[in-house]
Order: sequence, then C-alpha cells, then structure tokens
Amino acid sequence: MSKLAIIGGTGLSKLVNLERVRKRVVKTPYGEPSSPITFGELNGVDIVFMARHGYGHNIPPHRINYRANMWALKEVGVTDVVAIAAVGGINRSMPPASLVLPDQLIDYTWGRASTYFEDDLEHVTHIDFTTPYSVELRKKIKRAMYKAEIAVFDKAVYACMQGPRLETAAEIIKLERDGCDLVGMTGMPEAALARELALNYACCALVVNWAAGLEGGEISMRDIEGHAEAGMIKVEHLLKVLVYE
Ligand code: HPA
Repeated sequence: MSKLAIIGGTGLSKLVNLERVRKRVVKTPYGEPSSPITFGELNGVDIVFMARHGYGHNIPPHRINYRANMWALKEVGVTDVVAIAAVGGINRSMPPASLVLPDQLIDYTWGRASTYFEDDLEHVTHIDFTTPYSVELRKKIKRAMYKAEIAVFDKAVYACMQGPRLETAAEIIKLERDGCDLVGMTGMPEAALARELALNYACCALVVNWAAGLEGGEISMRDIEGHAEAGMIKVEHLLKVLVYE
C-alpha cells in the first residue's frame, strides 16, 4: 500500500480541502522538522502534509532541516512524496502559472546537511541518482494532470540555488547555458535524501515568476506571492485528482 505525502512550499502552507485534520510532532535523530506533520483526508483518501518552510512560512530555504523533514515522513509510514515547489521560469515556453514536472536537476547549493550517510558508518554508501525523480510517481502525477485538464510540461531541468536571494541576470544566463529550465531553492538536498531513504519522490513545480533578467525589471516578493497563491489553486485541484492514482 502506498502512502502519499505532500510537501507544500511557498504559497502552500496548508491544504484547504483537507478534512479530519490531526497534527503530530515527530522527533528525529536529526532534530526538528519544519513543522508538525499534518494527517488528514483529501477527497476521502488519507494523506500526510508537511509545510516545508513551517506553517508560518518563516524558515528560509538554506535553513530548512531537510534531513529531519524526510526522516519524519519515512517514520510515519510515507512511501510517496510529491514536493510542491515555487520556481522561476528560465525556459521561455514555461511562463508564470505553468505546472512543470522536472525530470532532472542540477544542484548548485552548498553547506547544507545533504546526506544520512556520514556518521558512524560501517562502509561508505553512494546512492544512484541518475534519475533523481521517481519515474512511477511522475507517471501518476502526469495522469492526474491529464484528468484535471492541466497542461503538462514533463521534461525540464530544475536548478537548485542556495538563496535566499534571487539570482543575478548573469547567473540565469549561465543556468540557461547549463541546460536548466527552472530555478528554485529547495529541491536539494530534499530529492537526494528521499532517495537515500528509498522514498518515491517527484517534484511538481509551479512557475511564479520569470527568472531574473528575462523580463527586464526587478522581481518583487509581492509578485511571487501573488502568482504562488493563484497557482496553488491549480495545485490543490491537481492533488484532489492525484490521490486516486
Ligand atoms: N529563483 C529561485 N527561486 C525561486 C524563484 C527564482 O526566480 N522564484 C521562486 N523561487
């Protein structure tokens, strides 16, 4: 039996349609997760929800305890994780309001606790990460997107930047040269930790702004939050269909 968790990012600190909601504080060997874990029913199906930045959206990307978050989800029996992420669009065919299922990523972050395999080891472990997102889970999300009549972009490279600042225009030109289509700040080490714990993990990215320099002007937090809020209505619609896949 699979058990689905949704990790909510910017614009999604709670699921409005969740019923019979319970919260549980989960302790982990890696410290505290971003928030207590929420259990509830979405469209009659039991799911788990976690607010990546905390329920008050007050934990910046580089301070998120990714190890504790993923450990806590595993601990409560989760098998599948759909990570919702607000991103900037680099690829011109992915404008704000697009929902994208990246199939690859490049990690540009530094200094984050990014593995469970470092202390008290009997031997060194290198996980395979050729395909960073679960093929099966991406198929399920894709089916749900068709059913929910949401346009599907399912080939994209996600660039994970350190943040919390946004990028310079030159950094975005470099990312584009690197082959990146989307830019965010929270996709790593989350995806790698999920793989270390043998969780099926996929990212559902909502484009909330054109990446720096693509439109000429500055990017304001207000614009990002406005697009995130509007886009999350689409995400909530998708999730209600996804629970039946
Ligand atoms: N860059 C990095 N992270 C983001 C962006 C961006 O433009 N928009 C939302 N998250």
